[in-house]
Amino acid sequence: MRVIHALDAMAKEAAAAARKGLTVGLVPTMGALHDGHASLMRRARAENGKVVVSIYVNPGQFMPGEDYDRYPRALKEDAALARREGADIVFAPDNASMYPANFQTSVMVEKLSGPLEGMSRGRGHFAGVATVVLKLFNIVRPDTAYFGQKDAQQALLLQRMTDDLNLPVRLVLCPTVREADGLALSSRNRYLSKKDRQRAIALRRALLLGRGLIRDGQRDADALATAMAESILSEEDVELDYLEIVNPATLEPVKQITSTVLVAGAIGLSGTRLLDNIIVGPDGPFED
Ligand code: PAJ
Repeated sequence: MRVIHALDAMAKEAAAAARKGLTVGLVPTMGALHDGHASLMRRARAENGKVVVSIYVNPGQFMPGEDYDRYPRALKEDAALARREGADIVFAPDNASMYPANFQTSVMVEKLSGPLEGMSRGRGHFAGVATVVLKLFNIVRPDTAYFGQKDAQQALLLQRMTDDLNLPVRLVLCPTVREADGLALSSRNRYLSKKDRQRAIALRRALLLGRGLIRDGQRDADALATAMAESILSEEDVELDYLEIVNPATLEPVKQITSTVLVAGAIGLSGTRLLDNIIVGPDGPFED
């Protein structure tokens, strides 16, 4: 496995693989890799001749006051994990080559950037995500790119960008990998104190409560949201950022649950934001 920093070297390597008839799979990440990322790499390995894992803490998607500076950076450990999972290349570009001084282009996926994370962090967050992912696609030219359901809005928005801009790449969405108690794995879990780690399960618990209520016939989204919010707030020192029941294709709020919904939430624990979501149909499927 090679670690490549330079954009042109990365592009050359991927083009050479394509010329040999190998399909290229790309797993975009910000590093601090965990088993959620590893599950994407395993899928990519099973489906491609060449697997590229990008590791880049993208300043463009962090809003002022967010955790850009303290976001965990661990290239050595990350490269070791990627190697174990069978990656061929770790692509770790630097800010100066990704965003040279005269950089001025931004990709905005208009409607899908607005709600949920966009409401909480600002629409600039997803402009930053879309822009960097388009850059990565153009450098690596993957046949397939792999994303996690944990960031459902991000995946939906990147699929929209791909369709809208006719990008020649297939996106694959992979299920959320969880700890034994159900907490979704996240690089930001590293920030949690022991106490906060125990409390972090409040979001998952509320989502499962919501799923149970829908299964039992609750169709009123406001009533559901209230019950779930109460469940989260019953946990000490957990802040509720948002918890919403939305159409899984448009992210518009749902009032009456008559078809499959996305229930998505974010909580804060001593300044750390954690996300999770669940997809529920009134008659199933009841998976997560
Ligand atoms: P990052 O948070 O590092 O996540 C990289 C990929 O791993 C994303 O597609 C994310 O959804 C997926 N992932 C994270 N936790 C997961 C889990 N528990 N189970 C399954 N998949 C999981 O998302 C980003 O980076 C960035 O926004 C990026 C797309 C790389 C653009 O900068």
